[in-house]
Amino acid sequence: MAQQQSERSFLPHFIIKQMDGASMTEVFVAKEGEMANGDRRIISHEGVEVGVFFWEEKYYAYSNICLHQGGPACEGLLIHQVEDVLRPDRSFKQQKFSETDINFVCPWHGYEYDLKTGSVVADPARRLKPFPIHIRDGNVNVDIK
Ligand code: FES
Repeated sequence: MAQQQSERSFLPHFIIKQMDGASMTEVFVAKEGEMANGDRRIISHEGVEVGVFFWEEKYYAYSNICLHQGGPACEGLLIHQVEDVLRPDRSFKQQKFSETDINFVCPWHGYEYDLKTGSVVADPARRLKPFPIHIRDGNVNVDIK
């Protein structure tokens, strides 16, 4: 169930637009169709690191700085959410892997983040900063500012 694939990108980055007076850089991630399910890229631009995941036909991008102690949050294992299975009387029966929910795990101390929201699984009010993804001319790009 667990997968680990990480690739750092040192490809050129391009400032191609300005929004609301703030500089925003659209940074190349991959060619469309190049990333397989569960793949990720770590994009670095001017000191900002972003983890970009491809999961079930969608892209997700988050800050690569763990909310715990600043570890590389997006570079650990992908693992399906572990769920408790209860009996009808609500007593514990067993645990199983979720078929729909997937998390990535910070490799330093194991903080788990929901891949689809960037929220800390144990404290969903806290979440990694998300970054917008755009597909333009067959290229998958992330906006970094
Ligand atoms: S720095 Fe990520 S879990 Fe501690």
